[in-house]
Amino acid sequence: MRRWLWSAAAASGALAAMVSCAPQWDPVPPKLPDDPWSRGVVLYGQKCAGCHGEDGEGSEDRPALAPLRRAPAAGSERKTAFATAADLQAYVRANMPPLEAGSLSDDEAWALTTYLLRQADIAAPAELTAKNAAQVKIP
Ligand code: HEC
Repeated sequence: MRRWLWSAAAASGALAAMVSCAPQWDPVPPKLPDDPWSRGVVLYGQKCAGCHGEDGEGSEDRPALAPLRRAPAAGSERKTAFATAADLQAYVRANMPPLEAGSLSDDEAWALTTYLLRQADIAAPAELTAKNAAQVKIP
């Protein structure tokens, strides 16, 4: 009896170890990093890379985001030029991802804008906001 108990305990320990190695289903989404750039990296991977590529290189029918195009391409539905970070954030927030346009929060769109600017080698402040974004020019 005692031996049976011991082996049952060992088996359940092994089972617990196996379960903890298995992919966990987590109903609460993991908390995003605190700094905007890192949040942008995570969000880009989750919501944008599938179409625009891991490094913003683009894919068939989906424009490259690095380099970032200031003026809309021929045939684009985009009507505004990206003269500043504010323009880019407004566009992303209102239009991307296309099938869920308008789903990004203001903060998510700022984080993604920070990421896109830096990917395109444009210096962005650590904390991009509605107050400083108009000063960040896109060449
Ligand atoms: C389902 C595919 C898809 C996903 C996902 C997607 N995009 Fe796009 N994106 C497009 C297409 C297509 C265009 C071109 C739209 C146009 O010009 O009419 C575009 C255009 C853009 C542009 C403007 C590029 C230019 O040169 O005009 C930016 C910036 C952008 N996307 C950012 C994002 C961000 C940030 C995300 C993630 C939140 C995202 N996109 C997710 C397909 C996608």
